[in-house]
Amino acid sequence: MSGKKTLAIIKPDAVQNGHIGKIIDHLLAKGIKINAMRLMHLSTAQAAAFYAVHRERPFFNDLVVYMTSGPCIPMALELDNAVLAFREIIGATNPEQAANGTIRKLYGQSLEKNAIHGSDSDENAAREINFFFSGIDHV
Ligand code: CMP
Repeated sequence: MSGKKTLAIIKPDAVQNGHIGKIIDHLLAKGIKINAMRLMHLSTAQAAAFYAVHRERPFFNDLVVYMTSGPCIPMALELDNAVLAFREIIGATNPEQAANGTIRKLYGQSLEKNAIHGSDSDENAAREINFFFSGIDHV
């Protein structure tokens, strides 16, 4: 059965470009519940650990540099069929290929600087929520 939880990160480009409020409004307008949220500047070790699944990919080092370039906003989200439904809301990884009205189409700048992250499976959602909110009360 599909879970109700996913992990999002408003990425450094979207924070730096002043899109925080519009992105949060977009989530709330979709009926998404925000169970936990924090603003933090990731260390290199934290970014590398979060994206460890990509460590063999050619874009890994650039991704870590980008994700540590400024503050980001991890959020634990709740919605029906969370992982798939949220990936529909954010759109394709590459903003150029994302559907109109999706967050990446609206606010992403490039394949790397794509404004927002969403978990890709229920298993990763649980791991990623725990990564940022372990020990914090998220409903
Ligand atoms: P995200 O969904 O957070 O997962 C991995 C991130 O790596 C992706 O969004 C992009 O920000 C970044 N990235 C950079 N290059 C690529 C690529 N070629 N394929 C997938 N992701 C990439």
